[in-house]
Amino acid sequence: MMKKVTKAIFPVAGLGTRFLPATKSIPKEIMTLVDRPLIQYAIDEARAAGIKEFIFVTARGKSALEDYFDIAPELENTLRKKGKTELLQNLKSTNMDSGQIAYIRQNKALGLGHAVWCARRLLGNEPFAVILPDDVIAAEKPCLQQMIEAHAETGGNMVAAMEVPPEMASSYGVLDVREDMGSVVSVKGMVEKPAVNEAPSNLAVIGRYILTPDIMRNLNRAKSGAGGEIQLTDAIAEEIATSDNVYGFRFRGQRYDCGSKAGFLHATVAFGLAREDLRGEFSQFLDQMTATKNAAQ
Ligand code: G1P
Repeated sequence: MMKKVTKAIFPVAGLGTRFLPATKSIPKEIMTLVDRPLIQYAIDEARAAGIKEFIFVTARGKSALEDYFDIAPELENTLRKKGKTELLQNLKSTNMDSGQIAYIRQNKALGLGHAVWCARRLLGNEPFAVILPDDVIAAEKPCLQQMIEAHAETGGNMVAAMEVPPEMASSYGVLDVREDMGSVVSVKGMVEKPAVNEAPSNLAVIGRYILTPDIMRNLNRAKSGAGGEIQLTDAIAEEIATSDNVYGFRFRGQRYDCGSKAGFLHATVAFGLAREDLRGEFSQFLDQMTATKNAAQ
Protein backbone atom coordinates (compact mmCIF):
# COMPACT_ATOMS: atom_id res chain seq x y z
CA MET A 1 0.00 0.00 0.00
CA MET A 2 1.31 3.41 -0.92
CA LYS A 3 1.56 5.86 1.96
CA LYS A 4 -0.79 8.84 1.87
CA VAL A 5 0.56 12.26 1.04
CA THR A 6 -0.14 14.33 4.17
CA LYS A 7 2.77 16.78 4.30
CA ALA A 8 3.47 19.70 2.02
CA ILE A 9 6.43 22.03 1.77
CA PHE A 10 5.86 25.66 0.79
CA PRO A 11 9.10 27.35 -0.23
CA VAL A 12 8.52 31.00 0.65
CA ALA A 13 12.03 32.26 1.29
CA GLY A 14 12.40 34.23 -1.96
CA LEU A 15 13.13 37.95 -1.80
CA GLY A 16 10.41 38.88 -4.25
CA THR A 17 12.61 41.43 -5.98
CA ARG A 18 10.30 41.58 -9.00
CA PHE A 19 7.69 43.24 -6.83
CA LEU A 20 9.86 45.90 -5.21
CA PRO A 21 9.13 48.28 -3.63
CA ALA A 22 5.98 46.45 -2.42
CA THR A 23 8.07 43.59 -1.10
CA LYS A 24 10.43 45.86 0.79
CA SER A 25 8.33 45.39 3.91
CA ILE A 26 5.82 42.63 3.12
CA PRO A 27 6.53 39.11 1.93
CA LYS A 28 5.50 38.49 -1.66
CA GLU A 29 3.24 35.67 -0.44
CA ILE A 30 1.14 38.17 1.54
CA MET A 31 0.39 40.22 -1.57
CA THR A 32 -3.31 40.20 -2.21
CA LEU A 33 -5.22 38.50 -4.96
CA VAL A 34 -8.68 40.12 -4.65
CA ASP A 35 -8.93 39.90 -0.85
CA ARG A 36 -6.77 36.97 0.12
CA PRO A 37 -3.01 36.72 0.29
CA LEU A 38 -1.37 34.61 -2.37
CA ILE A 39 -0.35 32.00 0.19
CA GLN A 40 -3.98 31.36 1.17
CA TYR A 41 -4.72 29.97 -2.29
CA ALA A 42 -1.87 27.47 -1.93
CA ILE A 43 -3.01 26.46 1.56
CA ASP A 44 -6.61 25.97 0.44
CA GLU A 45 -5.46 23.81 -2.44
CA ALA A 46 -3.30 21.70 -0.13
CA ARG A 47 -6.11 21.29 2.43
CA ALA A 48 -8.54 20.22 -0.30
CA ALA A 49 -6.02 17.56 -1.31
CA GLY A 50 -5.85 16.11 2.21
CA ILE A 51 -2.63 17.75 3.41
CA LYS A 52 -2.47 17.84 7.22
CA GLU A 53 0.98 19.25 7.89
CA PHE A 54 2.20 22.48 6.36
CA ILE A 55 5.91 23.17 6.28
CA PHE A 56 7.04 26.66 5.38
CA VAL A 57 10.60 27.30 4.33
CA THR A 58 10.98 30.96 5.20
CA ALA A 59 13.74 33.53 5.54
CA ARG A 60 14.47 36.82 7.22
CA GLY A 61 11.72 39.39 6.80
CA LYS A 62 8.92 36.85 6.48
CA SER A 63 7.42 37.04 9.96
CA ALA A 64 4.16 38.53 8.60
CA LEU A 65 3.46 35.03 7.29
CA GLU A 66 3.62 33.53 10.77
CA ASP A 67 1.25 36.16 12.12
CA TYR A 68 -1.13 35.58 9.26
CA PHE A 69 -1.69 31.94 10.22
CA ASP A 70 -2.03 32.65 13.94
CA ILE A 71 -5.31 33.42 15.68
CA ALA A 72 -6.30 37.10 15.85
CA PRO A 73 -8.14 37.43 19.21
CA GLU A 74 -8.87 41.19 19.01
CA LEU A 75 -10.23 41.00 15.48
CA GLU A 76 -12.25 37.89 16.27
CA ASN A 77 -13.77 39.45 19.41
CA THR A 78 -14.68 42.62 17.58
CA LEU A 79 -16.37 40.75 14.76
CA ARG A 80 -18.18 38.51 17.24
CA LYS A 81 -19.48 41.50 19.22
CA LYS A 82 -20.65 43.18 16.05
CA GLY A 83 -22.41 40.02 14.92
CA LYS A 84 -20.37 39.83 11.70
CA THR A 85 -20.61 36.06 11.58
CA GLU A 86 -19.69 35.52 7.95
CA LEU A 87 -16.59 37.66 8.17
CA LEU A 88 -15.65 35.93 11.42
CA GLN A 89 -15.93 32.51 9.80
CA ASN A 90 -13.90 33.75 6.88
CA LEU A 91 -11.21 35.02 9.23
CA LYS A 92 -11.15 31.91 11.37
CA SER A 93 -10.74 29.66 8.35
CA THR A 94 -7.24 31.10 7.93
CA ASN A 95 -6.12 29.98 11.41
CA MET A 96 -3.82 27.01 11.67
CA ASP A 97 -3.87 24.75 14.73
CA SER A 98 -0.72 24.56 16.79
CA GLY A 99 1.47 21.77 15.52
CA GLN A 100 -0.12 21.78 12.08
CA ILE A 101 2.29 24.29 10.71
CA ALA A 102 6.07 24.47 10.97
CA TYR A 103 8.54 27.12 9.91
CA ILE A 104 12.07 26.33 8.88
CA ARG A 105 14.59 28.99 7.97
CA GLN A 106 16.62 28.87 4.82
CA ASN A 107 19.40 31.21 5.86
CA LYS A 108 21.04 31.49 2.44
CA ALA A 109 19.25 31.76 -0.89
CA LEU A 110 20.87 28.73 -2.51
CA GLY A 111 17.98 27.67 -4.73
CA LEU A 112 14.69 25.78 -4.72
CA GLY A 113 16.36 22.39 -4.22
CA HIS A 114 18.16 23.74 -1.17
CA ALA A 115 14.92 25.24 0.20
CA VAL A 116 13.19 21.86 -0.02
CA TRP A 117 16.21 20.17 1.56
CA CYS A 118 15.96 22.52 4.56
CA ALA A 119 12.74 20.70 5.52
CA ARG A 120 14.32 17.24 5.46
CA ARG A 121 14.10 16.58 9.20
CA LEU A 122 10.38 17.21 9.23
CA LEU A 123 9.62 14.50 6.71
CA GLY A 124 9.43 10.82 7.39
CA ASN A 125 9.81 7.95 4.99
CA GLU A 126 6.77 8.91 2.97
CA PRO A 127 5.93 10.84 -0.18
CA PHE A 128 5.43 14.58 0.28
CA ALA A 129 4.10 17.48 -1.77
CA VAL A 130 5.82 20.73 -2.72
CA ILE A 131 3.71 23.75 -3.67
CA LEU A 132 5.17 26.93 -5.14
CA PRO A 133 2.67 29.64 -4.16
CA ASP A 134 3.65 31.85 -7.12
CA ASP A 135 1.87 29.40 -9.39
CA VAL A 136 -1.81 29.95 -8.72
CA ILE A 137 -4.03 27.38 -10.42
CA ALA A 138 -7.75 27.90 -10.88
CA ALA A 139 -9.38 24.52 -11.37
CA GLU A 140 -12.67 22.80 -10.72
CA LYS A 141 -10.80 20.04 -8.91
CA PRO A 142 -7.73 21.52 -7.20
CA CYS A 143 -4.52 20.69 -9.04
CA LEU A 144 -2.83 18.89 -6.15
CA GLN A 145 -5.92 16.74 -5.66
CA GLN A 146 -5.82 15.76 -9.35
CA MET A 147 -2.16 14.86 -8.92
CA ILE A 148 -2.71 12.80 -5.78
CA GLU A 149 -5.31 10.77 -7.64
CA ALA A 150 -3.00 10.22 -10.61
CA HIS A 151 -0.09 9.47 -8.28
CA ALA A 152 -2.11 6.72 -6.60
CA GLU A 153 -1.83 4.89 -9.96
CA THR A 154 1.80 5.64 -10.81
CA GLY A 155 3.61 6.09 -7.48
CA GLY A 156 7.09 7.59 -7.80
CA ASN A 157 7.74 11.27 -8.42
CA MET A 158 5.20 13.44 -10.17
CA VAL A 159 5.47 17.05 -11.35
CA ALA A 160 2.66 19.24 -12.67
CA ALA A 161 3.24 20.08 -16.31
CA MET A 162 1.87 22.36 -18.96
CA GLU A 163 2.65 23.18 -22.58
CA VAL A 164 4.19 26.66 -22.88
CA PRO A 165 5.09 28.64 -26.01
CA PRO A 166 8.46 27.18 -27.14
CA GLU A 167 10.22 30.55 -26.75
CA MET A 168 9.20 30.54 -23.07
CA ALA A 169 10.61 27.10 -22.26
CA SER A 170 13.93 28.49 -21.04
CA SER A 171 12.15 30.05 -18.04
CA TYR A 172 11.08 26.66 -16.71
CA GLY A 173 12.09 23.15 -15.83
CA VAL A 174 11.38 21.23 -19.05
CA LEU A 175 10.43 17.58 -19.53
CA ASP A 176 11.84 15.15 -22.05
CA VAL A 177 8.91 12.81 -22.62
CA ARG A 178 9.41 9.07 -23.02
CA GLU A 179 5.80 8.02 -23.31
CA ASP A 180 2.78 10.28 -23.57
CA MET A 181 -0.25 8.65 -22.01
CA GLY A 182 -2.49 11.73 -22.16
CA SER A 183 -2.64 13.48 -18.82
CA VAL A 184 0.26 11.42 -17.45
CA VAL A 185 3.58 11.31 -19.28
CA SER A 186 6.60 9.24 -18.33
CA VAL A 187 9.77 11.27 -18.31
CA LYS A 188 13.19 10.30 -19.64
CA GLY A 189 14.92 13.60 -18.92
CA MET A 190 14.42 16.93 -17.18
CA VAL A 191 16.35 20.15 -17.65
CA GLU A 192 16.17 23.29 -15.55
CA LYS A 193 15.95 26.46 -17.63
CA PRO A 194 17.46 25.06 -20.84
CA ALA A 195 19.20 27.44 -23.23
CA VAL A 196 16.97 28.75 -26.00
CA ASN A 197 16.79 26.08 -28.77
CA GLU A 198 18.03 23.37 -26.40
CA ALA A 199 14.75 22.57 -24.66
CA PRO A 200 13.80 18.89 -25.12
CA SER A 201 10.13 19.90 -25.50
CA ASN A 202 7.75 22.70 -24.56
CA LEU A 203 6.24 20.72 -21.69
CA ALA A 204 7.16 22.81 -18.66
CA VAL A 205 7.18 22.00 -14.95
CA ILE A 206 4.65 24.02 -12.94
CA GLY A 207 4.99 24.46 -9.19
CA ARG A 208 3.28 21.34 -7.84
CA TYR A 209 5.26 18.22 -7.01
CA ILE A 210 4.69 14.89 -5.28
CA LEU A 211 8.08 13.51 -4.35
CA THR A 212 9.60 10.40 -2.84
CA PRO A 213 11.95 10.58 0.16
CA ASP A 214 14.77 9.63 -2.25
CA ILE A 215 14.71 13.22 -3.50
CA MET A 216 16.02 14.35 -0.10
CA ARG A 217 18.84 11.84 -0.39
CA ASN A 218 19.74 13.31 -3.78
CA LEU A 219 19.56 16.82 -2.36
CA ASN A 220 21.94 15.79 0.45
CA ARG A 221 24.74 15.65 -2.07
CA ALA A 222 23.40 18.09 -4.65
CA LYS A 223 25.72 20.43 -6.47
CA SER A 224 24.66 23.75 -7.91
CA GLY A 225 23.06 23.67 -11.34
CA ALA A 226 21.34 26.25 -13.55
CA GLY A 227 21.92 29.83 -12.40
CA GLY A 228 24.45 28.58 -9.81
CA GLU A 229 21.57 27.34 -7.62
CA ILE A 230 20.76 23.93 -6.15
CA GLN A 231 17.89 22.85 -8.36
CA LEU A 232 14.98 20.64 -7.39
CA THR A 233 14.71 19.67 -11.05
CA ASP A 234 18.19 18.09 -10.94
CA ALA A 235 17.39 16.05 -7.82
CA ILE A 236 14.24 14.73 -9.50
CA ALA A 237 16.05 14.05 -12.79
CA GLU A 238 18.53 11.86 -10.91
CA GLU A 239 15.69 9.48 -10.11
CA ILE A 240 15.13 8.81 -13.81
CA ALA A 241 18.45 6.98 -14.10
CA THR A 242 18.25 5.18 -10.75
CA SER A 243 14.54 4.38 -10.35
CA ASP A 244 12.83 5.36 -13.60
CA ASN A 245 9.83 6.66 -11.68
CA VAL A 246 9.36 10.27 -12.81
CA TYR A 247 6.05 11.40 -14.30
CA GLY A 248 4.66 14.64 -15.61
CA PHE A 249 1.00 15.42 -15.09
CA ARG A 250 -0.98 17.70 -17.38
CA PHE A 251 -3.46 19.18 -14.94
CA ARG A 252 -6.86 20.51 -15.89
CA GLY A 253 -7.06 24.17 -14.95
CA GLN A 254 -5.74 27.63 -15.62
CA ARG A 255 -2.35 28.54 -14.21
CA TYR A 256 -1.38 32.11 -13.39
CA ASP A 257 2.25 33.07 -12.93
CA CYS A 258 1.90 35.34 -9.92
CA GLY A 259 5.68 35.57 -9.74
CA SER A 260 5.46 38.10 -12.58
CA LYS A 261 3.64 41.42 -12.59
CA ALA A 262 1.65 40.70 -15.74
CA GLY A 263 0.69 37.25 -14.44
CA PHE A 264 -0.42 38.75 -11.14
CA LEU A 265 -2.63 41.22 -13.00
CA HIS A 266 -4.12 38.44 -15.14
CA ALA A 267 -4.93 36.51 -11.97
CA THR A 268 -6.46 39.58 -10.36
CA VAL A 269 -8.80 40.06 -13.32
CA ALA A 270 -9.70 36.36 -13.54
CA PHE A 271 -10.30 35.89 -9.82
CA GLY A 272 -12.16 39.20 -9.60
CA LEU A 273 -14.49 38.13 -12.42
CA ALA A 274 -14.97 34.73 -10.81
CA ARG A 275 -16.33 36.35 -7.66
CA GLU A 276 -20.09 36.63 -7.61
CA ASP A 277 -20.05 39.67 -5.33
CA LEU A 278 -17.72 41.60 -7.68
CA ARG A 279 -18.47 40.27 -11.14
CA GLY A 280 -21.21 42.74 -12.14
CA GLU A 281 -19.43 45.95 -11.28
CA PHE A 282 -16.00 44.71 -12.29
CA SER A 283 -16.99 43.41 -15.72
CA GLN A 284 -18.84 46.66 -16.42
CA PHE A 285 -15.65 48.55 -15.61
CA LEU A 286 -13.57 46.28 -17.84
CA ASP A 287 -16.04 46.74 -20.70
CA GLN A 288 -15.80 50.51 -20.30
CA MET A 289 -12.01 50.36 -20.28
CA THR A 290 -11.97 48.30 -23.47
CA ALA A 291 -14.49 50.59 -25.16
CA THR A 292 -12.46 53.68 -24.22
CA LYS A 293 -9.29 52.07 -25.49
CA ASN A 294 -10.92 51.00 -28.77
CA ALA A 295 -12.39 54.48 -29.27
CA ALA A 296 -8.97 56.06 -28.75
CA GLN A 297 -7.39 53.89 -31.46
C1 G1P B 1 10.78 27.02 -10.47
C2 G1P B 1 11.37 25.68 -10.89
C3 G1P B 1 11.08 25.38 -12.36
C4 G1P B 1 9.59 25.47 -12.61
C5 G1P B 1 9.03 26.82 -12.13
C6 G1P B 1 7.51 26.81 -12.21
O1 G1P B 1 11.48 28.04 -11.16
O2 G1P B 1 12.77 25.69 -10.64
O3 G1P B 1 11.55 24.12 -12.69
O4 G1P B 1 9.35 25.30 -14.00
O5 G1P B 1 9.39 27.08 -10.76
O6 G1P B 1 6.97 28.04 -11.83
P1 G1P B 1 11.39 29.61 -10.75
O7 G1P B 1 10.12 30.11 -11.34
O8 G1P B 1 11.38 29.66 -9.25
O9 G1P B 1 12.59 30.24 -11.36
